[in-house]
Amino acid sequence: MSDSKFLQLLREQVGHEFNAHQQYIAIAVWFDAQDLPQLARHYYRQAIEERNHAMMIVQYMLDRDLSVEIPGSGDVVNGFEDVVTPIKLALAQEKQVTSQIEAIFAAARAEGDALGEQFLLWFLKEQVEEVASATTLLTVAERAGSNLFDLENYVAREQIGDGGESADAPDAAGGVL
Ligand SMILES: [Fe+2]
Ligand SMILES: [Fe+2]
Repeated sequence: MSDSKFLQLLREQVGHEFNAHQQYIAIAVWFDAQDLPQLARHYYRQAIEERNHAMMIVQYMLDRDLSVEIPGSGDVVNGFEDVVTPIKLALAQEKQVTSQIEAIFAAARAEGDALGEQFLLWFLKEQVEEVASATTLLTVAERAGSNLFDLENYVAREQIGDGGESADAPDAAGGVL
């Protein structure tokens, strides 16, 4: 069991989620420094969600008596030339995570791991929402162009993806933030 492809990918995913957390913090801090507080708030919130995703996977491994290691995080992009670039990066990151979750799900299915498959269903649903909201934000940002007040007002008004984790979310080790 401990050498299955599913488990190997799931372990790696803890790192991917923490890396997404760090990247979202970098984006949030950049927006904060640009005096765009609504975009900053949005990405600080996204960062916390990614941290929660990592800790949900950790809780799953604890529940199934699997050894857990917390990895260091990978590379983070910090410098952006304009407002649209980090929003594009966020969408690319969500699409990449979707592919990663799909691969873990495929491994669970191939290995006949019904419990693993079931665990990943929530993550698949979450990725549909995350890609959709990141796509919407990019569309609005591109439409707003240099009118950053409009973009900030939109983010404040729509509260995109700000509902927190849904009621059916898996438990997170130490509790969801
Ligand atoms: Fe995530
Ligand atoms: Fe995400």
